[in-house]
Amino acid sequence: MQLVDTHVHLDQEEFDADRAEVIARAHAAGVSAIVAIGTTAASSESVVKMAAEHPGVFAAVGIQPNYCVQAAAEDWERIVELARRPGVVAIGETGLDRYWDYTPFAVQQDYFDRHIDLAARLGLPFVVHMRDCGDDILAALRAAHERHGSLSGVMHSFTGDADLAEACVELGLYISFAGMATFKKSAESRAVAAAIPADRILVETDSPYLSPEPYRGKRNEPAHVVHTAACLAAARGETPEAFAEQTTANARRLFRLER
Ligand code: NI
Repeated sequence: MQLVDTHVHLDQEEFDADRAEVIARAHAAGVSAIVAIGTTAASSESVVKMAAEHPGVFAAVGIQPNYCVQAAAEDWERIVELARRPGVVAIGETGLDRYWDYTPFAVQQDYFDRHIDLAARLGLPFVVHMRDCGDDILAALRAAHERHGSLSGVMHSFTGDADLAEACVELGLYISFAGMATFKKSAESRAVAAAIPADRILVETDSPYLSPEPYRGKRNEPAHVVHTAACLAAARGETPEAFAEQTTANARRLFRLER
């Protein structure tokens, strides 16, 4: 059984002491590919380097909305340059966040559009972070759809409702679920996951954050994606094997991962 962990903050200091072991444990658990996600220009540079050093690790480059406030013009130029490097399979993470107010919302919107347009220009998918702003995200995505036609990207660690998921799928996007979906209180999230078309669902850890059950409260790592996948498979009435095969095929298609 193979899985792809589509969203990992592999450059975070939580992994500094044992990064190689974390990657080895993922591979041993059947996680054949990991998408390491950049959040700043420096972080994007780190994940590109990790993709070059570790087989099965791929990179996404971008500036996460909460960090856009600190970004200088040359940081964005660096992202544009890094986007063409080997091993880069996506642009992001980008998106919008109304929960934290570090970055003025208009600045977040400007960077979200820049990331989407860069992704379209390079023929890469983009990775969307959404927190407490479903309507704003949908408006931005619909405007992007006007500019570019069908979109290619993923709604990461999705916590929206079924209507928002359906609207995103219609625009061309994939929907990815993280460990939170395994929590007892997340029945609604599992119901949303159960209704995603088979060819659009993805799974991720969002490591090192929010471990799935039974590791809740501990540092998260890519090997734990197995538990989230098993939980989602059950919610969808599928075997873990069938769910793994389908989501792995979806991830390989979206990110065009080499084997
Ligand atoms: Ni993230």
